Amino acid sequence: MSTLIVNEVSYPLPEDPRTTLLDFLHQHLSMFGAKKGCDHGQCGACTVLLDGERINACLVFAFQLEGKSVTTIEGIAKKTSASDAQLHPLQKAFVERDAFQCGYCTSGQICSGVALLGELAAKNPSAVTCSADYSQREDISERMSGNLCRCGAYPNIVGAIEDVIALEPQ
Ligand code: FES
Ligand code: FES
Repeated sequence: MSTLIVNEVSYPLPEDPRTTLLDFLHQHLSMFGAKKGCDHGQCGACTVLLDGERINACLVFAFQLEGKSVTTIEGIAKKTSASDAQLHPLQKAFVERDAFQCGYCTSGQICSGVALLGELAAKNPSAVTCSADYSQREDISERMSGNLCRCGAYPNIVGAIEDVIALEPQ
């Protein structure tokens, strides 16, 4: 049987090849953290991690992901026991910075931000600041530009990511 791992648990893939990953999460797994905004790859509300890299879950078909590992916002916190978990530093920073209003975009923003932090930590060449004239703030904004926020919470979203970068050992 073809399976997909979601938040470290293996699930059988849907038989219908037209089922997107986003619909699979919602309709088969009852995981509603990833949101459907545009369903066309334009808003980032559905962002999840696929083998650690950010993707729009509305743009991939579940059947294409056999054997892959997906992390959704439900799996971002670190499990500390069967019934408890510790928030990811970026989740804490979002709370401390009040980096949301309605919250509809927030799960996608956090998943995208977690992947961005991973790109920076890995010193991925594509994650190097583009220009010496580019401030870190502008760089983060550019790299988060695939995640829209109708409420305009951008300053605090970028601030939350800056806070977590500042926590990292230099
Ligand atoms: S719902 Fe997937 S990018 Fe908008
Ligand atoms: S907090 Fe409302 S869309 Fe971003």
